[in-house]
Amino acid sequence: MMDGKTPLFELERISVDFETAKSRVCAVHKVSLRGLYGETVGVVGESGSGKSTLARALLMLEPVSSGKVFFQGVNMGATSPHSLRKLRRHMQLIFQDPDASLNPRRTAGWHLDEVFTTHFPEVSRGERADRADMALGKVQLGVELKGRFPYELSGGQKQRLAIARALLLSPKLIVLDEPLSSLDAALRKSVLTLLKDLQEEHKIGYLFITHDLSTLGVIATRVAVMYRGALVELATVDELYQHPCHPYTVALLSCIPVADPVIERGRKSVFFPAKRVASATGVGCPFAHRCPFAKEQCHHVEPVLQNVSPTHAVACHFPDSVSALLR
Ligand SMILES: Nc1ncnc2c1ncn2[C@@H]1O[C@H](COP(=O)(O)OP(=O)(O)O)[C@@H](O)[C@H]1O
Ligand code: SF4
Ligand SMILES: [Mg+2]
Repeated sequence: MMDGKTPLFELERISVDFETAKSRVCAVHKVSLRGLYGETVGVVGESGSGKSTLARALLMLEPVSSGKVFFQGVNMGATSPHSLRKLRRHMQLIFQDPDASLNPRRTAGWHLDEVFTTHFPEVSRGERADRADMALGKVQLGVELKGRFPYELSGGQKQRLAIARALLLSPKLIVLDEPLSSLDAALRKSVLTLLKDLQEEHKIGYLFITHDLSTLGVIATRVAVMYRGALVELATVDELYQHPCHPYTVALLSCIPVADPVIERGRKSVFFPAKRVASATGVGCPFAHRCPFAKEQCHHVEPVLQNVSPTHAVACHFPDSVSALLR
């Protein structure tokens, strides 16, 4: 399947709608995104922008309302339950809160062993123990932790245990949904370094979700910026940092300090008033009600993602507005 051309995953114009008692929420709106083997695609956006729903749709944990999800070239929505189960082993999810995936009444060793009983019951007891020890070694945890319960582990150790568990299945893709949010600054750095090392060693693709753009500078190859369910900008990390085109990306970037004083001054000069030109109507640009560059067209016509360079795409009718202001 890994022919060098087939992407690891591909989302083709997927939408995910939720029906609630009062209304219909479009959590993800016509998003197309692909990730390559061994690549980290970052997904950034404020809370409620649809990041987790996008991840769940990719893992087939949330049905899509429209569009297609491909994993290793296979259309996941059209494949048999048997092959879906096999493919799913290669896609793992790591949450923000490691407690969410740990049973408080079971030891760390039980959590590792459970991976085998669920997915590889044919593996012998001895081999299970060896492979579990190896996985613990890879995440720099001592084998003595196997006897401990989750409440006896620190936040960093629990997140490492979750990563060790994912590694046992030799995944091709790990979706990390805000994996560092529950950790303090020092632990964040060490888990990030660990993730990078593991990726290099095992050629794992990551979909790395965060609301903090600065983290992505360390780990991501490309970054997808989401706003209200839509993918509004997609670019390599360098392009996004140095030449952001979408006004929302600039707003996000203005929240993180940069070393270059010229870029820093330019960013600070982009002031986003809490102006509400119009309420979000569900048509036109999703950012129009907050955008200082919005024109009449923005309120009626939905901008589609278009390339401004081979490695940079933006969904904005006036992508030069930002650069004109920063110039
Ligand atoms: N199961 C659900 N039912 C109804 N609405 C949901 C559900 N899950 C998410 N949403 C809504 O979808 C939107 C996107 O949510 P989410 O994907 O969790 O965003 P993020 O991860 O970026 O914070 C939010 O408005 C949220 O309230
Ligand atoms: S399409 Fe219009 S409202 Fe939307 S980001 Fe671009 S300029 Fe602003
Ligand atoms: Mg989320």
